[in-house]
Amino acid sequence: MLESSLQFLRCVGCGSKLEPNVYKIGKEIEEGILECKKCSLEFPIIEKIPILWDDFSQYLSSRKTLGGKLFRLAKTTKLKKFLKSSLSKIDYVYDDRTVLEERWSVIYENSKSSKFYSVIKNNFDVIEQSRLVVEYGCSIGTVTSFLAESHDVVFGIDRSFAALRHAKQLYKNNLDYFVSDILSPVFGKLQFDLVLALNILELVEPIDLLNHVSKQVSSGYFVITDPYDFDRGANSVKKPLDETTLRTNLNNLGFKILPKTQTPSNIPWNLNLNSRATLNYEVDLVICKK
Ligand SMILES: C[S@@+](CC[C@H](N)C(=O)[O-])C[C@H]1O[C@@H](n2cnc3c(N)ncnc32)[C@H](O)[C@@H]1O
Ligand SMILES: [Zn+2]
Repeated sequence: MLESSLQFLRCVGCGSKLEPNVYKIGKEIEEGILECKKCSLEFPIIEKIPILWDDFSQYLSSRKTLGGKLFRLAKTTKLKKFLKSSLSKIDYVYDDRTVLEERWSVIYENSKSSKFYSVIKNNFDVIEQSRLVVEYGCSIGTVTSFLAESHDVVFGIDRSFAALRHAKQLYKNNLDYFVSDILSPVFGKLQFDLVLALNILELVEPIDLLNHVSKQVSSGYFVITDPYDFDRGANSVKKPLDETTLRTNLNNLGFKILPKTQTPSNIPWNLNLNSRATLNYEVDLVICKK
């Protein structure tokens, strides 16, 4: 975690500033704890990645294997002690997401050359240089790291530690990643000049996502893409949006849709699942502005 990122982060429990207890530092903070003095919540930084989850033991309770891996990855005794204590508080283990999250990180790594990413990157030329940018559900940071080449400060948020470990392999002094839930108030009342949400409408309640982003953009851009692949059985979101209702909801929140994305698009997004299988989506792109 970059030391400079600290000024932008807030406690997800009470919104207060966080105090860093640094255990290991190089070009950036490698290990430590971000502590809220007000409500006493603690957020570990492991392998340079802060995990900003309101209940860290709960985060691990659906990632049991990851818990053991983090313990082995931790280099300092203080962090190992914190992890041991957090692991001991897990009383119920949900389905272990560790393997799933690792598998998808590899799929995104192997799909970086999908046309989708080059089309999206080319579409950014209408957006002027921004001071603050966040990408929600950034996975391995394919687009996030590209944005850091031309914008001032760029953050990526994802709940997958495995994905952000891939993302963190590239160091840039204006690019940082945080494990967090997309709807968590990790940035407090911070306003962004550019927010991205690429292909996540099936995973986060869409209306909640739009409301969350709308509060963070009073003057800036919101870029959203989706294949509207909502049928996920028991895990489906409650209120899916389609190409029309997405645009209507954005308009109702005060966003103006750029004329070139007013008409729904079909951008190919190919995910290489393995050497014999590819998942082929057609994705709609909306760029809007307040
Ligand atoms: C379908 S992938 C899209 C990845 C990337 N945006 C892209 O288009 O290549 C969705 C990503 O969102 C993350 N994600 C899903 N729900 C999330 C949540 N509630 N909070 C944080 N991240 C979430 C997943 O871990 C995954 O990396
Ligand atoms: Zn707090």
